[in-house]
Amino acid sequence: METGKRRYLPPVRLFDAGAVDGLLGDLRDCYRAVFCAPPWNEPSQRAEEFAVAVRQHAHQAGFVGAYVADSQGVIVGFAYGFDTAQPFPTAGSYATLADLLGERTDELVGRREVREVAVHPDVRQRGLGRALLAATVQDVPSWLLTASAITTATTFYQRLGWHRLIAAGGLAVYLSPPA
Ligand SMILES: CC(C)(COP(=O)(O)OP(=O)(O)OC[C@H]1O[C@@H](n2cnc3c(N)ncnc32)[C@H](O)[C@@H]1OP(=O)(O)O)[C@@H](O)C(=O)NCCC(=O)NCCS
Repeated sequence: METGKRRYLPPVRLFDAGAVDGLLGDLRDCYRAVFCAPPWNEPSQRAEEFAVAVRQHAHQAGFVGAYVADSQGVIVGFAYGFDTAQPFPTAGSYATLADLLGERTDELVGRREVREVAVHPDVRQRGLGRALLAATVQDVPSWLLTASAITTATTFYQRLGWHRLIAAGGLAVYLSPPA
């Protein structure tokens, strides 16, 4: 992987359900480097669960995936999102969100959900996160869920003009700025 202080901005590439299997190992490794490390500190099993989840998410309506790779072809950042189902889903983590938001889940329906944004620690603060998020959102009104205590993430979204819809129970929901 290319690291160091010089500015490094590889192009953002898009991927869809047809391409996800070929990228899966690399996406999982990047996920592990990003989220199974501070400040997220997720157990490494979560990277395996992510690999299962992203294959399913890739078949959701409106799926858009974006990644950046270094000159060796190693993925060093990725993001993806998809349309929010209507009515608002209640399975899994959506149930917690539905409890938190009540009728305000209506504000998320019709928007794209950004499910993941991840940049390898070695290449942060060079504009890759901004570029990946832009490629995933594509000016479609969007939302995302994050942890309110992870200030790296909340500061990043706020710097990009996203605004917080709600913060409670350790979670925070952000809405994208108007296009
Ligand atoms: C959050 C994350 C995606 C940002 O990626 P990045 O490539 O470093 O972000 P960028 O370089 O594009 O920064 C975009 C803006 O956010 C700001 N920013 C990024 N990280 C920041 C930090 N740790 N502290 C303060 N500001 C930060 C940048 O200064 C920049 O603002 P500017 O253009 O006004 O100067 C990356 O830190 C990451 O992967 N973190 C772990 C995973 C995570 O938290 N994902 C999001 C929650 S699901």
